[in-house]
Amino acid sequence: MVKGWTKSGWRAKPRVQMPDYPDTAALGAVETQLAKMPPLVFAGEARRLKADLAKAARGEAFLLQGGDCAESFAEFSADNIRDTFKVMLQMAIVLTWGAKVPVIKVGRMAGQFAKPRSAATETIGGVELPSYRGDIINGFDFTAEARVPDPYRMLQAYTQAAASLNLLRAFSTGGYADIHRVQSWIAGFTDEDEAARYREVAERIGDAMDFMTAAGVTSDTAHELAKVDFYTSHEALLLEYEEALCRVDSTTGIPLAGSGHMIWIGDRTRQPDGAHVEFCRGVQNPIGLKCGPSTTADDLKVLMAKLNPENEPGRLTLIARFGAGKVGEHLPRLIRAVQSEGANVLWSCDPMHGNTIKAASGFKTRPFDSVLREVREFFGVHKAEGTIPGGVHFEMTGRDVTECTGGVRAVSDEDLSSRYHTACDPRLNASQALELAFLVAEELQDRRALRKASGL
Ligand code: PEP
Ligand code: CO
Repeated sequence: MVKGWTKSGWRAKPRVQMPDYPDTAALGAVETQLAKMPPLVFAGEARRLKADLAKAARGEAFLLQGGDCAESFAEFSADNIRDTFKVMLQMAIVLTWGAKVPVIKVGRMAGQFAKPRSAATETIGGVELPSYRGDIINGFDFTAEARVPDPYRMLQAYTQAAASLNLLRAFSTGGYADIHRVQSWIAGFTDEDEAARYREVAERIGDAMDFMTAAGVTSDTAHELAKVDFYTSHEALLLEYEEALCRVDSTTGIPLAGSGHMIWIGDRTRQPDGAHVEFCRGVQNPIGLKCGPSTTADDLKVLMAKLNPENEPGRLTLIARFGAGKVGEHLPRLIRAVQSEGANVLWSCDPMHGNTIKAASGFKTRPFDSVLREVREFFGVHKAEGTIPGGVHFEMTGRDVTECTGGVRAVSDEDLSSRYHTACDPRLNASQALELAFLVAEELQDRRALRKASGL
């Protein structure tokens, strides 16, 4: 237990990006109700994830974290969850094949509802209204009523997260994720080039499985072949919700954020003396910290000391999100800050949030080339610094959307309007996600070849 920490201590700290609920009685009633609900995740699972992330920090595993920018109530369906899960499995296969290390699968799912916004209000046609902050807070519709923060939305988000997690647990362990089904995970609309590349890998794995079956190793004799570990994560932005789901773990006596396995602190809410850092420092979950161009080395040192005072491996993942062309300017100085403190961290790359632009059509988009370029730059800097690139973090969906421009099946600026469904930031579609996985796999293969050559 962190000394002097309580689950409501954040309330005494400056807070940003959080709603002011007009109906405080309703807020109190919702908090009381949520506090009685079962936690969504268990401490043993969070500890296992932490141990896995510690391996990734040492280069013995690789973190794949992805999913929606914002989950929404309207887009909630079993098919959407299955399709995102399926693309994550495909990407993990490509990465495992390339890197020959276990891939840790963490969804931005089952809790990723609250959004920080760059502006407090939005103006359309001369009408100014409060910004949409995610379905857990207010409504997407551009009306004054929809934009009022409504605490009852927290209960709907909890219910949706519970149902999502239930399905994810079933997909992970109920046979769907059995490695023998590797060839069936491809989405029907995946671009032919990417699909062919994937099929090639899947066929070689299929051959290896046939060999293993002949040798007497099947999903019945080796249960690991029949299931995967799949974890959930989200930005811990709405602290009333996080506090209400915080539970003390009976095994260790240490509090746990019961809302998801891993939680992260966004680039806009990482003030060292702010409310978000205060809440996160006291829970035992693995914590992510977004690092953007404005992150200073001094702030990072303070944040590492606050969030991981025991320097526990796997506790802290630094998620670099600088933008293509800016990684060389910022990542080395932060890597050096980490090294000067002797801190244990896992470095992950979010190539999405530094690459958002407004297209001529008015849609918010991300050029896929910039996404790929930032990933390459991230690996390049780690190679130059002799440090370990341990993961990637990105926004994607298993649906055939047109939200990011480019990719093998080139999505153009004019195409954006055809299937633009995101409730917040533009996501990679299934083909783009797979293309990204192949690029990361190549980078990891190069790294592996170098390490082998140098006898590591
Ligand atoms: C996000 O991950 O959706 C997000 C808002 O990221 P960042 O805090 O890095 O801008
Ligand atoms: Co986003």
